[in-house]
Amino acid sequence: MADLAAPPRLEDLPVAAGKKVLVRIDCNVPLSGGRVADDLRLTTIIPTLDWLRRAGAAVVVCGHLGRPKGRPDPRFGLAPVADRLGDLLAEEVPLAPEVVGERASAMIEALRPGQVLLLENLRFEPGETANDPGFAAALAAPVDLYVNDAFGASHRSHASIVGPPAALPHAGGRLLFREVEALGRLLHDPARPFVAVLGGAKVSDKLGVIDALLDRCDTILVGGAMAFTFHAAQGRAVGDSLVEPDRVDECARLLATGRVRVPSDVVIAREIDAGAETRVVPAGAIPDGWKGLDVGPGTAAEFADAVASAATVLWNGPMGVFEVAPFAAGTRSVAEAVAASSAYTVVGGGDSAAAIRGFGLAERVSHVSTGGGASLELIENGDLPGLAALREPAPSPPPPA
Ligand code: 3PG
Repeated sequence: MADLAAPPRLEDLPVAAGKKVLVRIDCNVPLSGGRVADDLRLTTIIPTLDWLRRAGAAVVVCGHLGRPKGRPDPRFGLAPVADRLGDLLAEEVPLAPEVVGERASAMIEALRPGQVLLLENLRFEPGETANDPGFAAALAAPVDLYVNDAFGASHRSHASIVGPPAALPHAGGRLLFREVEALGRLLHDPARPFVAVLGGAKVSDKLGVIDALLDRCDTILVGGAMAFTFHAAQGRAVGDSLVEPDRVDECARLLATGRVRVPSDVVIAREIDAGAETRVVPAGAIPDGWKGLDVGPGTAAEFADAVASAATVLWNGPMGVFEVAPFAAGTRSVAEAVAASSAYTVVGGGDSAAAIRGFGLAERVSHVSTGGGASLELIENGDLPGLAALREPAPSPPPPA
């Protein structure tokens, strides 16, 4: 496992009054009615912005939202992010109308110590996801220093994540370190028993992390639609539930470890609808035309018991279609068990973070990660491209003229 503590910290940066600092954040936040609907990824980067402002830096923030295809798309503009950042900083945060170019450069040039500017969505530029060196150089050109506080995007080898550290003195931000330290506790000598609860739709997304977790934890509890590929591997009838047939053999291999537990009962319906007729049936008793959409009450109780007796808990992925009321009970039960536990508890980002926040229980867990894919990839690989880039030495300063 890489030395995750190695990237430089803010204190290591030669920040001086008026230095321009580019800060990459993960502002891939849900929007509703033109406003930010969940601001976890914004509140958590404020300590970094505040530290830089207090040090006299002029702060240029950049980030992505959604998956626009390398050109401006009004559905993914960052105006709602600029508004919310402005609320959180109690100061207007202007939005540059582009990422790179004359107008952005002029706004950066005019930025005074302590001020914050947001650049438009990085993914409006094709060079971002293509990791184009020319685009990375254009991002770095108008600034002096670079900070990566985009933990949730640090599993992407995109230009704004891996490019600027090669060109500028750089550091990891407060959130990045908080995440690496919190998730690192799961990887380095976790208190036992260590129970992982995994859910979500696709088992193919989670096979790597299950293998990595089997090296470290005692029991893995599997819920969500991904459980049905495990049920199929046990030869159980799954009706019309989501199954990935090409992953059945791998699920059988994981079940053979004896440390992967799957639901014993499920909530089924014919369709995902708040008014749908539902039934609770034992695993393997799903008729054709019906699909499993949540773990059943028996499973929820079993999983809650396992969580209650753990000393370390990782939860990633909902147990069912929790956004639709009749299929939310399993996810709520896991959230309540994690919140009630006195163990070291980590909720992986994405849907499970949204769920525990939605249930009002986030304050009662040890760490809610802002990274979905990033947190899983860190657990799986022990490192991320964005962290590796920060460990590279900073370029030498130019010789005095
Ligand atoms: C996320 O939401 O997990 C990150 O912002 C990464 O987004 P992406 O999956 O679109 O790269």
